[in-house]
Amino acid sequence: MTMKLATRATRIAPSPTLNMAASVKRMVAQGEKIIDFSAGEPAFETPEFIRDAAIAAIREGFTHYTPVTGIDELKEAILDKCLADHGLRYEKSQVLVSCGAKHALYNLAQVLLEEGDEVILPTPYWVSYPDQIALAGARTVLLPTEEVHEYAIDPEALEARITPRTKAIILNSPGNPTGAVYSRRILEEIATLALRYNLLIVSDEIYERMVYDKREHVSIASLAPEVQARTVLVNGVSKTYAMTGWRIGYAVGPTDLIAAMGHLQSQSTSNPTSIAQKAAVAALRGDQSVVQEMVRALDDRRQCMVKRLQAIPGVQCPVPGGAFYAFPNISELIGRRHANGTIANPSDLVAYLLSKAGIACVPGEPFGSTSHIRLSYTPDVPCIEEGMDRFEAAVKALMEA
Ligand SMILES: Cc1ncc(COP(=O)(O)O)c(C=O)c1O
Repeated sequence: MTMKLATRATRIAPSPTLNMAASVKRMVAQGEKIIDFSAGEPAFETPEFIRDAAIAAIREGFTHYTPVTGIDELKEAILDKCLADHGLRYEKSQVLVSCGAKHALYNLAQVLLEEGDEVILPTPYWVSYPDQIALAGARTVLLPTEEVHEYAIDPEALEARITPRTKAIILNSPGNPTGAVYSRRILEEIATLALRYNLLIVSDEIYERMVYDKREHVSIASLAPEVQARTVLVNGVSKTYAMTGWRIGYAVGPTDLIAAMGHLQSQSTSNPTSIAQKAAVAALRGDQSVVQEMVRALDDRRQCMVKRLQAIPGVQCPVPGGAFYAFPNISELIGRRHANGTIANPSDLVAYLLSKAGIACVPGEPFGSTSHIRLSYTPDVPCIEEGMDRFEAAVKALMEA
């Protein structure tokens, strides 16, 4: 029987990054020696005290439904974090704990957007935003940003894209895939426009702790109370505490919006996993030196990978200020030939690097770029060195062909 799917299901594609990660895992399981730069997750173990908290929760029988929107203990830990890190005060009714930041964003898109609405999205963007917007029936309005300006938003270009149907702007600083960290000045200009045109600001701050070279992460909500009042702050424990599999993220924002998101969650997933919530409490309340150590290690890996990429002919790699991705420009390699064909776009280069060099990365197209590829610098330094040796040899072969 052929099933006619709902139109809404035809508007989205499976996550290209998760797809790539799954095929690499399959190849590794079959014994292939792949160096994996495709993962959107830290290669570290979840710290032991966090795992212990989940084990204790199982032993104590904390294994039943919890309140849909999250346990009070976790909401309090999130409120304390917002206050300590950004000076932001919220009520418990303004917090929704979901099954990952991705789920928080999904809930938000579903309760906020409808047919004809527009959402402004700086490009390059994280892969899930346009699909979540499309699933809600709304339209993504792309706001191109440039590598030469470190992917900063140009306020004039932003203003030019605002129409009476614009409902929100999505910010993701530090950003995936560019690693861009927005300055306080740019955030102030964006906030001024959001106030003038009555836009909701969606601020995805999942990489907030991964900032380098003494850069500062500024949460846009902290600029002024009136900005806080129109911002939904999205965050989670996945990246900061190497907890991607635990699926705990959260949104903090206007009470009515958060309540509607909670109602949707009550009719879909119900509460996030009980024991994962206990683990997230331990993460947020525990010794934060584990995070500093992870960020220090990521910084070494960042420097190693970027230096190596910058030395490869045909590859231009700016230094990413945050997150854990390098986003080199490979446009000089487009049009080059190899034994089995021509590199016509980033996807072709990624396929060539996988087959020729056994290294996995992600093409730029699903992030909105036809000139870049994305490499995670999450593997350790020896692994990055070996991967870069292979990358360099494969690119040299292209340049000489
Ligand atoms: C920008 C961005 N937001 C959200 C997420 C989702 O995180 P979570 O694991 O909390 O769903 C990711 C994960 O790759 C991301 O890169």
